[in-house]
Order: sequence, then C-alpha cells, then structure tokens
Amino acid sequence: MAEDLLLTKTTKEELYQELIPQLKSLIANENDLVANLANVAAGLKEAFGFLWVGFYLVKEDTLVLGPFQGPVACTRIPKGKGVCGTSWEKQKTLIVPDVEQFEGHIACSSLSRSEIVIPIVKNNEVIAILDVDSKELDTFDTIDEKNLTQLLNEINF
Ligand code: SME
Repeated sequence: MAEDLLLTKTTKEELYQELIPQLKSLIANENDLVANLANVAAGLKEAFGFLWVGFYLVKEDTLVLGPFQGPVACTRIPKGKGVCGTSWEKQKTLIVPDVEQFEGHIACSSLSRSEIVIPIVKNNEVIAILDVDSKELDTFDTIDEKNLTQLLNEINF
C-alpha cells in the first residue's frame, strides 16, 4: 500500500492543514506509539524541510531520544536542561527565535538556529516533548505552535 503524502500548498498554515489530516489517517489504525511518532516526525520533515524533527520521551528523571528525522542527536536531556528540559520543567511550549540567545541551549547540531519545543502532557505530567529545529533564525511562530499542538492531540500517547 502506498503511503505517499500529497503536499501541494505553499503557505505554512495551508501546508499544516493539508498535512495534518493525512498524518491523522496514517496513524489512526496503528496503536504502536513508536511507529506513529516515527511517521509524524517523517511527515513534518518531508512537508517543511526542517533541520530536525523528533520526540524525546520522559523515562524516570530524563528525556530520552525517541523517533526523529535529521542529524544524530543527544540521547539524554535532564529535566530543566536546554530548551527541551526547560519545556518539560515548565510544562510550557517554548519558541526560541535564536538559539544562541537561550541560556543553556543544548547544541545537538551546530546548524540549528531556531527551535520550537512542545510538551505532551497526560494526567498533569509531561510524558514526552516534540522538538523541531530549523537552520534559519526565527522560523517558528504561533502558527506552528497551534498546528503542531493540533497534530500532537491526534496521537494516542
Ligand atoms: N536543542 C535542544 C536539544 C535537542 S536537539 O536540538 C535535537 C535543547 O536545547 O534542549
């Protein structure tokens, strides 16, 4: 069965609205979380060409690297460290327009210039985070936050 994405739109908002239903149907009949996270990361990378798209999963007191697309990355991030660990600690989405201006940013790839991190919260606890990195400054805004949050709500964690 072919699983190609159909991506024709040019504006960011339209592209998300074209992508999200396709990813939703791709993951709808699969209950394996790793498989679904892998396809979501791949779909976002394919649609937008981001430098790095991936998930870190909370395991005890650490974020551990999960399914991702892009250059190899740090495997473990402690709570409160870097953008990911801070998003976890604060249970808050963080949009970082210039990673060099974020104190404690963890440079997994020296090519990363801006970043968005969204925590996934279940029963009031962060269980994972989505991290998206861009080679350009100031790539992410509330359009990304809204649509990525909508997409994460489709995943059965
Ligand atoms: N930059 C992140 C680390 C993860 S990588 O970018 C994939 C951070 O500061 O938490």
